[in-house]
Amino acid sequence: MVVLENVTASYSMRRGLMGSRSVKVVDGVSLSISENEAVALVGESGSGKTTVGKLSIRLLKPLSGRIFYDGFDVTHLPESRLGKLRRETRMIFQDPYASLNPYMSVGEFVEEPLLVHGVEDKAERTEIVYKALEDVRLMPPQDFAQKYPHMLSGGQRQRVAIARAIVLKPRYLVADEPVSMIDASSRAEVLEVLNTLRKGYRMAILYISHDLATTRYFADRVAVMYLGRIVEMGGIEEILSEPLHPYTQGLIASIPEPDPRNRFVERETIQGELPSPQNIPRGCRFHPRCPKAFDRCRVEDPPLREVRRGRWVACHLY
Ligand SMILES: Nc1ncnc2c1ncn2[C@@H]1O[C@H](COP(=O)(O)OP(=O)(O)OP(=O)(O)O)[C@@H](O)[C@H]1O
Ligand SMILES: [Mg+2]
Repeated sequence: MVVLENVTASYSMRRGLMGSRSVKVVDGVSLSISENEAVALVGESGSGKTTVGKLSIRLLKPLSGRIFYDGFDVTHLPESRLGKLRRETRMIFQDPYASLNPYMSVGEFVEEPLLVHGVEDKAERTEIVYKALEDVRLMPPQDFAQKYPHMLSGGQRQRVAIARAIVLKPRYLVADEPVSMIDASSRAEVLEVLNTLRKGYRMAILYISHDLATTRYFADRVAVMYLGRIVEMGGIEEILSEPLHPYTQGLIASIPEPDPRNRFVERETIQGELPSPQNIPRGCRFHPRCPKAFDRCRVEDPPLREVRRGRWVACHLY
C-alpha cells in the first residue's frame, strides 16, 4: 500500500559561521507497508525515523527515490493532487503537548478533519466525534468534547490526538513514538487503545519507537534504522530471538531485564554516541561503535541484503 523506494532526504543545517548546508539524514531507505500490516521502525534518537514517517505520507518530498501510494507514484504530485492520500493517511506526532491547539476544545479539534474533508452535516460530525472519543476511551464523550488541552493529562492529550487521527478512518497511520512523552503509568493504556483501533479499523500502521521492547506488542515486522539507513529488517519474533546486526544486538541487550536472576549477566550494549549526519563515518557507518568491526568494515559500506527469506541485513559478517 505504501512503498518507499530508495528514498533520500536532507535538511539544511547550520554550520558554524560558514552558513548552512544541506545534510542527508535519510539515505537510500526502501520500505513497504502492506494493507493492514503493522511495521515498527526503531533506532536511536536522530537516526531518521520521524523523517521516514513523514516521507511515507508525503509530508516531506524526498531528494531522490520514489514514493508510491496504492501503486501510484506520488513522489512529485502537487498538494492539490494528493487528495486521496491526505484523506486516507494520518500521522500522530511525538509530542502531545505541542500537537494540540490550546485554543480549540477537544470536540472542535477532533472535528476539524471532518470539516476539511467535507462532512457537511453537523449532527453527523458530532456523532462521529463522539464515537472517536469513545474509541480512545475518553468517556463520557460529551464531557470530554467540551474540555480544553490544559485540562488534560499527557495520556489524555495523546488519546485526543489519536481520536483526531482516526476520525476519518485512515487506511494508514504513522504513530511516531506515541508514548515516549507521556508518563509511564498511562503508556500501556494508550498502546492498547492504538492496537485495538488498528485491528478494529483494519489500519496499516508504521509504529515508530526507539525502544524495541514495546514493538513486539504491535508489529508484524520491524525495520532497524541507524544514521539514516535501514540496517536490519524482518519478522519481529525472529529479530527479537535472533538479531543478526551488531546494532540490533546492542538494542536488544539494552532492553531492561525483567528477571532479576539475569540482571547481572554480561550483555553487550552499544557504546558511544550516534555520530552527526554531518560526519558520517566511512565504510560501514556503524563501525566506530561496533564490537565486531574488522578491516573491511572501515573501508567498505555494506549494502542491505536478504540473507534469509524475509530477513535483510547490512553487515559484512553475513
Ligand atoms: N527540521 C529539521 N531541520 C534540520 N535538521 C533536522 C530537522 N528535523 C530533523 N533534523 C535532523 O535530522 C536527523 C534525523 O531526525 P529525525 O527527527 O528524523 O530522527 P528520529 O529518529 O525521529 O529521532 P528522535 O528519536 O529524536 O525523534 C537528526 O540529525 C535531526 O537533528
Ligand atoms: Mg522522531
